Amino acid sequence: MDIKLFETTQELDAYAAALIVSAVRGNPEAVLGLATGSTPIGIYAKMIDMHRSEHISFKRATTFNLDEYVGLRSSNDQSYAYYMNQHLFAHIDIPSEQTHLPNGMAEDLPAECERYDRMLQEQPIDIQLLGLGHNGHIGFNEPGDKLSGGTHVVELKEETREANARFFASMDEVPEYAVTMGVGSILKANNILLVVRGADKADIVKQALTGPITTDVPASLLQTHPRVTVLLDREAGRKLAQ
Ligand code: F6R
Repeated sequence: MDIKLFETTQELDAYAAALIVSAVRGNPEAVLGLATGSTPIGIYAKMIDMHRSEHISFKRATTFNLDEYVGLRSSNDQSYAYYMNQHLFAHIDIPSEQTHLPNGMAEDLPAECERYDRMLQEQPIDIQLLGLGHNGHIGFNEPGDKLSGGTHVVELKEETREANARFFASMDEVPEYAVTMGVGSILKANNILLVVRGADKADIVKQALTGPITTDVPASLLQTHPRVTVLLDREAGRKLAQ
């Protein structure tokens, strides 16, 4: 694992955006794996800057998002589809039909998971951006006795719903289920970019990167991947040397 620490959020965002954009510069048809949550917002803003100022085009790129809540329409401002439009897609030149998220409104969710996996098989991800949950989740792959390889429906842990409640009017509105790419699909990405910020994640960063590889900390499985870059702010990385 290549672990880099950053003094400022701006430096971290610029570095992460440059890595993602370099995949598109190297191959205009690059397939990007994307994440939501608070971590990528500044990275997407920087990608939009680069699109505008350096004329980086995403016209031929394809994106796959990690996850989507079950039961929220894409017009719902808490859905991840809405988030992606708001923070990235509406501001760059990627055609919407080349952007993919699991459809959490699908009537037949198992069939939707199969459809997503088929697309991922046909268009393998060149670089997958990941954030890290406080409990070690990646995507919505929650800690547990076993992890699923492919895209699947997951019941969200109470701690994850509580962590995400800040985006909703009340805890009751936080969906109980989500569709997520599995750890297996994530590990199939050619390159992985894990980004973590904040003192509140220092312990889980240490466990995930240096602790035992265990389904209790899904992100620890990233230790088995040959090309993972980890970008941390000082706070998130402060327990690593201890
Ligand atoms: C989001 C996702 C989640 C988040 C994680 C961290 O698509 O898959 O795993 O990356 O929950 O969330 P933030 O960035 O809000 O701390």
